[in-house]
Amino acid sequence: MPLFEWSDAIAIGNEQIDDDHKHLIGQINKLFAGISSGQGDQVLGEVLDELLRYVEAHFQREEALMQQIDYPDYEWHKAAHDDLITEVMEWRSQHDAGLMVSPMSVFCSLEEWLFHHIKVCDANLGVALRAAGRNDKP
Ligand SMILES: [Fe+2]
Repeated sequence: MPLFEWSDAIAIGNEQIDDDHKHLIGQINKLFAGISSGQGDQVLGEVLDELLRYVEAHFQREEALMQQIDYPDYEWHKAAHDDLITEVMEWRSQHDAGLMVSPMSVFCSLEEWLFHHIKVCDANLGVALRAAGRNDKP
């Protein structure tokens, strides 16, 4: 059973963005499962690769939606995205260089960042998208 289950309580109402968030939560669950089974270091590498591959495209989808509705917090929200990408790249390059990167510390940072970001920042975007008639769900 995964550590975190998807819940409609954290849906922002845009199907593509919610699907992206489900995928990202799946990566957090994968990392936790890897740590729990003693495979943390190997799974950390896989999860960081997947985050670098997926998160940039996901952030671009959110940012395109923000621009389409002239979202007032665009700059601030994009800066938060850029900060996470920088952090993931840093972990990836340290891991590649054979430096010790604690899988548990990455898990805790990611879990805290992602859930806070989805519940607060992206939820606010969801409200703005709904007001602009751009969400899939009322
Ligand atoms: Fe976001």
